[in-house]
Amino acid sequence: MADFFEVVRSQRACRAFAPEPLSDELVELLLEAATHAPSAENRQPWVFVVVRDERRRALIAELARRAWDGGGRAQASGRLTSGLLADVEGGIGGGFATAPVVVVVCGDTGLGDGRVLPASVFPAVQNLLLAATASGLGSALTTLPLAFSDELSQALGLPDALRPMAVVPLGRPARPLRSPRRQPVSAKAHRERYGAGW
Ligand SMILES: Cc1cc2nc3c(=O)[nH]c(=O)nc-3n(C[C@H](O)[C@H](O)[C@H](O)COP(=O)(O)O)c2cc1C
Repeated sequence: MADFFEVVRSQRACRAFAPEPLSDELVELLLEAATHAPSAENRQPWVFVVVRDERRRALIAELARRAWDGGGRAQASGRLTSGLLADVEGGIGGGFATAPVVVVVCGDTGLGDGRVLPASVFPAVQNLLLAATASGLGSALTTLPLAFSDELSQALGLPDALRPMAVVPLGRPARPLRSPRRQPVSAKAHRERYGAGW
């Protein structure tokens, strides 16, 4: 079994995938991990739509491209490092479309207080990402396709109560992922009171 801390330390966004298909058993195992996340009042307001159909996956990739071309790139280019910008560009330019499975994670607005809906859905997304990494898969939390939520909802036949909140491509990474870059705990944590440092 993969060491938990090794998984956490290596989990990162993958934006190019090998064409190898993923079994339903494996996808279900990842979703089971996702459903073990916490949620407010244990309402479990997550719904996962697993997309394998090539045309539907292509449409989702196209929505991301439209969002990127229609303002996402301009907004991001001043803020992202050139490396990250190139990575995202690679995902948009075809990398995401190579993922054999795309999971659209939705929040059920009919389950509980809407103010905590994202806080109750994203822990499940994180579990999904970690389970993917633990299984040797690449994954990414993406939101660009949500710029066209109505089209996405229509393509997936979502009822009005379901709000798409994350789009997660899954598959074997096309190439090994390097280690993620993160600031040390000492840059982010304080003892007792803010400003005391670590
Ligand atoms: C809320 C959120 C939205 C994101 N949306 C996108 C996206 O639309 N496209 C993308 O390529 N990456 C997206 N990412 C991935 C981030 O770019 C990535 O997590 C971050 O740059 C850290 O990179 P790493 O995971 O490779 O270390 C998103 C991440 C989060 C948390």
